[in-house]
Amino acid sequence: MTATATGLDVERLRADFPILSTTAHGKPLVYVDNAATSQKPRQVIEATDRYYAQGNANIHRGVYQLSERATAMYEGVREKAARFLNAKEAREIIFVRGTTEAINLVASSYGRANLGPGDEVLVTAMEHHSNIVPWQMICEERGATLRVIPMNRQGELLMDEAAKLITAKTKLIALAHISNSLGTINPVREITALAHARGVPVLIDGAQAAPHMPVDVQAIGCDFYTVSGHKMFGPTGIGLLYGRAERLEAMAPYQGGGDMIRHVTFEKTTYAPIPAKFEAGTPNIAGVAGLGAAIDYLAALPWDAVAAHEHDLLRYATEQLCDVPGVTLIGTARRKASVVSFTLDGVHPHDVGTIVDQEGVAVRTGHHCTQPVMDFLGIPATTRASFAFYNTRADVDALVAAVRKVREVLG
Ligand SMILES: Cc1ncc(COP(=O)(O)O)c(C=O)c1O
Repeated sequence: MTATATGLDVERLRADFPILSTTAHGKPLVYVDNAATSQKPRQVIEATDRYYAQGNANIHRGVYQLSERATAMYEGVREKAARFLNAKEAREIIFVRGTTEAINLVASSYGRANLGPGDEVLVTAMEHHSNIVPWQMICEERGATLRVIPMNRQGELLMDEAAKLITAKTKLIALAHISNSLGTINPVREITALAHARGVPVLIDGAQAAPHMPVDVQAIGCDFYTVSGHKMFGPTGIGLLYGRAERLEAMAPYQGGGDMIRHVTFEKTTYAPIPAKFEAGTPNIAGVAGLGAAIDYLAALPWDAVAAHEHDLLRYATEQLCDVPGVTLIGTARRKASVVSFTLDGVHPHDVGTIVDQEGVAVRTGHHCTQPVMDFLGIPATTRASFAFYNTRADVDALVAAVRKVREVLG
């Protein structure tokens, strides 16, 4: 099977990404660190450039044409983002810096108002630190307890345990749609249904899902959903928090400042309605312009072919890596995104990363901001290759050849 046998015209798509034709250490760049951040198509780069070259003005303030245009662009992208996530209304979309800020916003605002001694927040054993630490901080502040849904060694959540852990004490469940270090696709609909049957709201960390699949927050039924623009082919420093309107309306502002107020006096301030209530200060307007272009780009992709292609890359990479003596796969859930974590006997992942880099192959090594996953599995770190739709079987071949070279040098 060739790289395009799954029906996706990968070469045409690759041509949109200027960085994919560059080199590293004099070799063609093989970029397989997409779970850390994705590359950007020229449509995104041009949209950001165009905003600064022709459209730069502050939003919501000026009565002049340039400012009105910037405001229309900004609010237009909010509507686009609502369609992208299938939110009911555009006011359910808050622009944030990324998933980390989105989770901190909910932890601070919802957590401070709803958590007290004896209450519990439930996360899972495979969360990224950004879906652990904000909850730990607010639990500590409010005297609440952080509880953890366990997983098995394949990296699948133990659903029976999840059902037992959701009790009258549970005030919120926060879990990843897709694990960044293991690739597991979690049963977010089932967990949301379980939680809602007990009146517990659910936040889904969608940082790793949005680049791999169409997301439908109404079908999932969740209360909050977060995405990072930079992981879905958009700019850094911009992301989305989706929140059901009634949840967001009931929450206090996260930050105070300009643009989030209705009326200010020294005695008392009243706040703007959502979404403005959660967008204090001048936002990342250029980032919003770029994110809008990324959403357009994703919306135009043939998703059935993308899914088939990424699945083919996952299967091919899994088979090829397993053929290398000493390789152990980490994360073997039945439902997985195109993320392949592995260890190599007797070689520290940092050494793997450094040697494969010499071959032009960019992988991530370390704990991937999931130290509890590493502790659970009893390993210090892994090497992780994470594929996007623009990767090819040739990229997998280059990765595997580079890993074989590591064995020759250090094995
Ligand atoms: C599952 C998951 N959640 C959250 C984050 C944090 O995202 P950001 O750094 O864009 O805020 C990441 C980043 O790697 C992630 O993979």
